[in-house]
Amino acid sequence: MSHPPTTNPFPAQAAEAPQVRHLAIIMDGNGRWAKGRGLSRSEGHRAGTAAARHVVEDCLQLGIAHLTLYTFSQENWKRPAEEVSFLFELLVDFITRELPSLEKRGVQMRVLGDMEKLPFTVKKTLNHAIARTRANTKMILNLALNYSGQAEIVRACQEFVLAGNDIALLTPEKLAEHLYTKGQPNPDLVIRTSGEMRTSNFLPFQTAYSEYYFTETLWPDFTTEDLQKALGSFASRQRRFGDVGANESTAR
Ligand code: IPE
Ligand code: IPE
Ligand code: MG
Repeated sequence: MSHPPTTNPFPAQAAEAPQVRHLAIIMDGNGRWAKGRGLSRSEGHRAGTAAARHVVEDCLQLGIAHLTLYTFSQENWKRPAEEVSFLFELLVDFITRELPSLEKRGVQMRVLGDMEKLPFTVKKTLNHAIARTRANTKMILNLALNYSGQAEIVRACQEFVLAGNDIALLTPEKLAEHLYTKGQPNPDLVIRTSGEMRTSNFLPFQTAYSEYYFTETLWPDFTTEDLQKALGSFASRQRRFGDVGANESTAR
């Protein structure tokens, strides 16, 4: 465990600060991290896995109830086949190794994305982990895997119609019932590492009012301190959801 149990390393999650119920992370920069060290991209991905393990740990300590990690996008299939295979190998290893600890700590694992198209062993490992952690309630860990936000929205509309509903009666609330994130709150905060200022098809519907935090830090270098900074920034924001600010007078 990386923190002494007696001190709270996360003052940003103090009771009076706005709470992050759902944190979503675009874990980017593994390749550049490796390149900067003269290593292979695979080594970058391996180091990225260690950072993912730490962030799960930190979020558990913080009492963050939903954590979504962008693990593999539908667009990532464009990468060389060897890189894709390695990413799936790492994922299977990660889940196999972490499952006992996730189970013990009350983490429920879910997948956001099209699992059908994943390799058989990956599907098998994921289904096993999902089944084993189904009853856990401390934290929901969503792995966005073979995920595309645009495809998710299209699929949700199709599902709505195929269930016998009239498309003319579709509302944003009803559409949300057909998304992979059904029943979960929308992300309060989205972190993207590696300095890229884009969202890369990540949860476009669910992040309509999310706060964003972009950092130059490459994902394998992302530490507890980086998470603290992101949460500190979130705590200082005023979310309005289209309303006037909380301190604004409504008197004319
Ligand atoms: C993120 O790191 C991991 C995945 C997208 C699977 P990248 O592999 O995208 O790293 P960069 O962007 O090339 O540095
Ligand atoms: C987004 O990163 C996907 C994941 C982190 C899994 P990418 O590296 O694939 O995004 P782009 O291609 O730079 O937009
Ligand atoms: Mg990238």
